[in-house]
Amino acid sequence: MSEIAIVAGTVYGTAQFVAEELAQSLVDAGHAATFFENAELDTVTDSCDTLIVCSSTTGSGDIPDNLAGFHNALKDGASLSNLRFAVVALGDSSYLDSYCGAGHTLHAALEDCGAEPLAAPLEIDANEVDTPEDVALLWVEELLNP
Ligand SMILES: Cc1cc2nc3c(=O)[nH]c(=O)nc-3n(C[C@H](O)[C@H](O)[C@H](O)COP(=O)(O)O)c2cc1C
Repeated sequence: MSEIAIVAGTVYGTAQFVAEELAQSLVDAGHAATFFENAELDTVTDSCDTLIVCSSTTGSGDIPDNLAGFHNALKDGASLSNLRFAVVALGDSSYLDSYCGAGHTLHAALEDCGAEPLAAPLEIDANEVDTPEDVALLWVEELLNP
């Protein structure tokens, strides 16, 4: 069975709520899933073969501060060729050009480290979706049980 780690990049808590709900729902469905509140890259990737990143976008396409260290560790050239991953990108389409920018940046950084994407990032638009945790869970379940 795969070991799933889930991390969140958040400013106001929505992405963390989604990540925690995902972890609980996956555990309830019989998966081995853990939410890591302190997303230190080595600790997280040492304990899993599948990584789910839930991240909102802040500023103008920026990664939330609480995932900055994780992102820097990716940019420093981690080797993640044994890792599969998926990114749930929370954003707001009124930001136009930077819509879900952080999710896309994190996806690209993971790919640059050799990790295998399970899919293109899932974009969740705060303008349209009231329960992002439901949308994320349906998507992740389909990825894990194709
Ligand atoms: C100051 C600020 C800047 C934002 N910048 C962006 C952005 O550049 N692109 C985007 O898609 N969403 C942007 N958003 C929307 C958030 O990503 C979205 O509301 C998200 O659901 C917030 O999740 P969080 O509670 O986990 O931080 C911004 C929101 C705020 C308040």
